[in-house]
Amino acid sequence: MPQPDATVFARPEIEPPIGLLAELTHRCPLQCPYCSNPLELVRRSAELATDEWKRVFDEAAALGVLQLHLSGGEPTARPDLEELVAHARSLELYCNLITAGVGIPETRLDALVEAGLEHVQLSIQDVDPEGCDRIAGYRDSLAKKLAFARAVRARGLPLTLNAVVHRHNLDRLERMIGLALELGADRIEVAHVQYYGWALANRAALVPTRAQLERSIEVVERARRELEGRLVIDFVVPDYYARRPKPCMNGWGRAVLTVGPDGRVMPCHSAHVIPGLVFPNVREMPLAEIWYESDAFGRFRGTGWMKEPCRSCPRREIDFGGCRCQAMLLAGDPEATDPACELSPHHAAVVALAESESTTPPPPFLYRTLAGGRTRREPAPTV
Ligand code: SF4
Ligand code: FES
Repeated sequence: MPQPDATVFARPEIEPPIGLLAELTHRCPLQCPYCSNPLELVRRSAELATDEWKRVFDEAAALGVLQLHLSGGEPTARPDLEELVAHARSLELYCNLITAGVGIPETRLDALVEAGLEHVQLSIQDVDPEGCDRIAGYRDSLAKKLAFARAVRARGLPLTLNAVVHRHNLDRLERMIGLALELGADRIEVAHVQYYGWALANRAALVPTRAQLERSIEVVERARRELEGRLVIDFVVPDYYARRPKPCMNGWGRAVLTVGPDGRVMPCHSAHVIPGLVFPNVREMPLAEIWYESDAFGRFRGTGWMKEPCRSCPRREIDFGGCRCQAMLLAGDPEATDPACELSPHHAAVVALAESESTTPPPPFLYRTLAGGRTRREPAPTV
C-alpha cells in the first residue's frame, strides 16, 4: 500500500518520532484510581474506526515511527485489535500491547500472536488478591492476571509486568518482584504513581511516606544486584520526593506522540491540562504535519521556551526542564521549572504536601469509571 508522503513536512532540525502511543479506547473493565486517562473519558461512539486507526499507523510508519504501543483504557476492548496488529506488523511497526489482562480468552491471545503481536506489558495492582481487587475495582483480578501472564509466556511472548506502587502496596514490593521472576517476565517496571488524571484526584489516598519511598529504593537496588541477568527492573520514583525531575516523554515533541481514542494527537497523555494549546486531530490533519508544524508540538520543543533556572542549567538538555504538565498542575505555569526539581521555587511546598498527605489517614478512593458520566467513591471504612 502506498504510504503518505511525510517528507513534504520534514524539517532537518526536528527528529522524527520513535514511538506512537495509540490509546485505542478509554473503555476498561478496571477502575484504578491512579489511571492516567483524563477525568473526561472519551465515549465509544467518538472512537476512531478501524480504517481510521489503520491510516494513523500508515502515517506513523511513513513519519518514521518504529514502535507502536497499543494502550487505552483496555485495548482488547476493541474487537478489531487483531486486525490493527496485523496491519501494524505489515508496516513493520514493533507491536507492544499494554493490557490489564482480565477477560481475555486464550483464543483471543492466539489470534493476537497470529497477527504478529511482539510484546505484552501487563499491569499488576498488587500481589495480595484483596489489595489487587480493591485497586482494580474488579473481582478475582489477580487470579485472572496470573492466568493471562502464564498464557502469554506459554506462547513464547516476552512479558513486562507494570507494577504501579503507592502507600497501600509498597510493603509488598519484594513479592511483586518475586512474582515477575516466577512468571518468567523479562522485565518489571516498578513505577511510583505519577500524579496526573485520576491519580491527581486520588493523590492524598496514594502518596507514600518518605520512609516507604526510601525502603522501596533499597528493595529495588538489592533486587537489581541479586537478579542481574535474570530480570530487568525499571524504577520510577515519585516526583514529589525527587531532587531532579524525570525527562518527561524524553522531551516535548521529541520522541513520542500520543493519539487518543477520538484521534486527538498530543505530545503526552496529559497535555490537555495546559490551557491555550489546541491539539490537532488525525481526522483533520496528517500526522506528519501535526508533528512538524503544529503549535501544540512546537510549543515546548527544544529549550528556547525555558525560563530560569532551567534556561541556564547544565541539565536542560538532559531532563528538558521536567514535565510541562506537572509544571502547570503544581506551579500554574507550563513554562516553569517542574516543581519536582529542587531548584524550583515550588519544590519545598510540593515536598511538604507529600509529607503531610502521606502521614494523614488516606481518604477513600475515587474510582475511574465511565459509568454514565458519574464517578464512584469507595465506601468509607467502618471502624
Ligand atoms: Fe532540570 Fe530545570 Fe531543574 Fe535544571 S533547573 S535540573 S533543567 S528542571
Ligand atoms: Fe505531559 Fe509530562 S505528562 S509533559
